[in-house]
Amino acid sequence: MTATLAGLRIVVSAGPTYEDIDPVRFLGNRSSGRMGFAVAAAAARRGADVVLVAGPVHLETPPGVQRVDVRSAAQMHAAVFAALPADAYIGAAAVADYTPRAVAADKLKKRGDTLVVECVRTADILADLGAHALRPRRLVGFAAETGDLAGYARDKLVRKRVDFIAANRVGQPGSGFESEDNALTVYWPDGECSLGPAAKTLLAGQLLDLVFAN
Ligand code: PMT
Repeated sequence: MTATLAGLRIVVSAGPTYEDIDPVRFLGNRSSGRMGFAVAAAAARRGADVVLVAGPVHLETPPGVQRVDVRSAAQMHAAVFAALPADAYIGAAAVADYTPRAVAADKLKKRGDTLVVECVRTADILADLGAHALRPRRLVGFAAETGDLAGYARDKLVRKRVDFIAANRVGQPGSGFESEDNALTVYWPDGECSLGPAAKTLLAGQLLDLVFAN
């Protein structure tokens, strides 16, 4: 039976972040936002008060969801923390790990055969939440991996101090970025569970069942 989430406040992040290089160029990734939007929609259908922090995507806002649009990793970090306190955070966004050290004021001109853009690490939203006084009781991260799902996911579980990591394989058709479908292996400290392959809309509900099981 589907558990009600009425009375719970859930913050979900979705989509990519864009890190500007100059006024016309950015570093980005192929996240469509589908996975995170599906989680937000499923949580709202179950009665939760949902804040969806969305990177640049072309998706309709799910009914009953409060949407905050952002562009960069720094803006996503600020918007997620502005939405606290919350009972849960589900981080499906593909947040950039690096951002250019400076944004050029004018369009970069062609000079020479190579271009070096110096980047610096972005703040890690999930890890910062894991260490914060207002840490949501249920903290869920995703892991997008091309191999060794279990190893990387379990490392993130511990390092980012989260309760669940939903790992998906990327770099192949039918799962991960852009696709309508996905397959998740969800890890928690003393267990794991495989979901799918199935539509992201279906997996979203199954993930919520796991996370809010008790
Ligand atoms: O959007 P779709 O096209 O539907 O694709 C879905 C998806 C593949 C993007 C999604 O299922 C997914 O895997 N999202 C996480 C992608 C990712 O960035 O994974 P990661 O292993 O780099 O990051 C691990 C976790 O840390 C993620 O929860 C991420 O949101 C979080 N993170 C990462 C960097 C950062 N600076 N802050 C973060 O919070």
